[in-house]
Amino acid sequence: MPDIAPEMTLTQTAAHVRHGSNVGQPLTRLDGVLKVTGGAHYAADNHPPGMLYAVLAVSSIARGRVTFLDVAAAKAHPDVVDVMTPANKPALAIDPYERTNPFAFRLDLLQDDQVRYANQPIAVVIAATLEAATEGAALLAPRYDADPARVELDSTESFVPPVVGPGFPTEVHRGDVEAGLATAAKQISATYETAPQYHNPMEPHAIVAAWDGDRLTIDTPSQGLSWAQGRVAELFGISPDKIHVRSPFLGGGFGCKGFITGPQVLGIMAARLIGKPVKLVLRREQMFGPVGHRAPTRQTLRLGADSNSNLTALDHHTKTTSSTFDDFFEPASDISHTLYASRAIATSHEAVRIDTGTPLFMRAPGEATGSIALESAIDEMAHACGIDPLAFRLKNYAEVEPISGKPFSSKALRDCYTEGAARFGWQRRPLAPRQMRDGDGLLVGWGLGTATFPAMMFEAQAKAILRQDGRGVMEASVREMGQGALTALTQIAADGLGLDSGHIELRFASSDLADAGPAGGSAHTATAGSAIHNAGADVIAQLAALATNDNRSPLYGAGNAGVIARGGRLFRRDDESRSESYADILDRAGIAQIEGRGKSAGNVAAQSAYAMHAHGAVFAEVKVDPDLGQMRVTRVVGAFAAGRIINPRMVRSQLVGGMIWGVSFALLEQADMDARSGRPMNPNFAEYHIPVNADVPSLEAILVEERDPHVNALGIKGVGEIGITGTAGAVANAVWHATGVRVRKFPITLDRLLES
Ligand code: MOS
Repeated sequence: MPDIAPEMTLTQTAAHVRHGSNVGQPLTRLDGVLKVTGGAHYAADNHPPGMLYAVLAVSSIARGRVTFLDVAAAKAHPDVVDVMTPANKPALAIDPYERTNPFAFRLDLLQDDQVRYANQPIAVVIAATLEAATEGAALLAPRYDADPARVELDSTESFVPPVVGPGFPTEVHRGDVEAGLATAAKQISATYETAPQYHNPMEPHAIVAAWDGDRLTIDTPSQGLSWAQGRVAELFGISPDKIHVRSPFLGGGFGCKGFITGPQVLGIMAARLIGKPVKLVLRREQMFGPVGHRAPTRQTLRLGADSNSNLTALDHHTKTTSSTFDDFFEPASDISHTLYASRAIATSHEAVRIDTGTPLFMRAPGEATGSIALESAIDEMAHACGIDPLAFRLKNYAEVEPISGKPFSSKALRDCYTEGAARFGWQRRPLAPRQMRDGDGLLVGWGLGTATFPAMMFEAQAKAILRQDGRGVMEASVREMGQGALTALTQIAADGLGLDSGHIELRFASSDLADAGPAGGSAHTATAGSAIHNAGADVIAQLAALATNDNRSPLYGAGNAGVIARGGRLFRRDDESRSESYADILDRAGIAQIEGRGKSAGNVAAQSAYAMHAHGAVFAEVKVDPDLGQMRVTRVVGAFAAGRIINPRMVRSQLVGGMIWGVSFALLEQADMDARSGRPMNPNFAEYHIPVNADVPSLEAILVEERDPHVNALGIKGVGEIGITGTAGAVANAVWHATGVRVRKFPITLDRLLES
């Protein structure tokens, strides 16, 4: 049995089961009481005996070389224990720039004196207290040999990247776009820009690392425990089974905790250097560089439509940025592969290399950036055709995925349009902009955006144990990022084992347990849930065999498929008056417990036959001050179809969170890069604007009924990311409808609205 800290085992109590139990029920959060009482331990809450504090020193230039660090001054501080620099860092087993797999991003681990972006780690100060380590880092007073920084979309020569996103082709087309444009009755061509954004989960990256000889224990927020374990193993040249990673609770992930980052590895190196446990936590401003971001984009869309307002051509080109030393390219154009049925579609990307950290997957990577441009362009096209933007979408949404030609759940999308529009009151919308005012004279506008996100599956495993007392244990390295995974997965575990969820003990978040796959790509519930379901089914099959083969059982002769499991009992399918409790079956067989295993993975045959996406339609209202240009989102209704809903309370919360992020994308969020220094100018929550309560209006997420039998056996699609995709465009389109002004640079700030 693995060594599991007490906070990493959860049992549902009666208090959680307010509405019955198991799949489909809106159970409250299993971890809610732990969260509000401080009982949920985050990585930085760990304090092993003898632990020291490490603080990063980061570069204040974006390109050049570190020429001097005053290590002597830092070491002279009475509480500073050591300073780790390129001169004394522990040796690694491989070059941290070696790309051992497509997702082994290059890490800056003090391997040289080069500076490639602002806020790159250049030293680590280790001290007895956090304050001393912070002071020591300041005493280093680095000097640089600086080169001019290049941090903008046009700073360097552009090129065609080899692939975009996680390995998608850079250019894709179907049909002849130029011919489609040439024959179109109406055409538009418009260029949209999106700003760089930085992942800012409430909890920054943090690590507590403790070596015991060549064994390593790390507490760190990780969306992918086995990925982190494997990456650390190769960097330090030790076997993965000597590395124990624990990550029960993440204060948000959003993609920046998917792969272990340079600063986290530096914490492990500091612990090795000093021979004591070390804690390293990023300061907020240190999140703006070494741990990924969403790159800026400039997207040009050319659309053509015939005289019936049917799309004849859709061309989507994106220019984006990556770092000078690694490859990640925001796949923004690819959103145009799935949504609208144009006779011809072409998507393409180009990129420049600039002096920033490497961009990375950030919540709906590609879909969010691409969606705000595509949904704006669709709105502009509808206006050019003189028809309502909902009517235009109802004519043009794809019945089969246009680029692949595969069928998908387009009926669900139609239901989202219809149900969302009815709830919002869309039919009262005037066609022309600038027609509505509220009682205070504010301009009112209504906008629509279509939401979509792929339904992905990764590989996962789980282990189930049915104990002699009839209670169940589920073991899988699932983890809670705030999305409600533990609650939903316990519900799935309960149904898999035929128990009430109050009788399930979930053991989670430790790399010693069955590998439950990543919590990313909006796929954690589908992926881990499928493995958990299958582990439960394996136990039930063994239990059924015991009962149905035993002539002392009332189930004797029913056959394995002839029983069903529910509430801790097996019932004869054809005669439910004949049943037996799990405990009785085990007891009679003299078996202490039954263990079952489950796995999951994408169904390759189904994936080649069907396109798999969740869908939605988002309707937004904004109010704009006609004199000052101040904008407020006042109402958003999103209707989403995402397959089977395990827990509607958690799902609504996820969707609403995504919609808030969409509001943020449209109106608030941007990293301002200083072209002279190459530094982000607003690396803090005062100036990097995200919605606060006053910015968040009435938000409603409608769950549209959908049964998709192809995505996975449980019919689950993800809900973590889709909420952003429709919302950002809906808000942008509402601003246009309120004002008649089309701002094509995001976020739509007050100055941009007044300028346009
Ligand atoms: Mo997400 S960008 O898969 O955490």
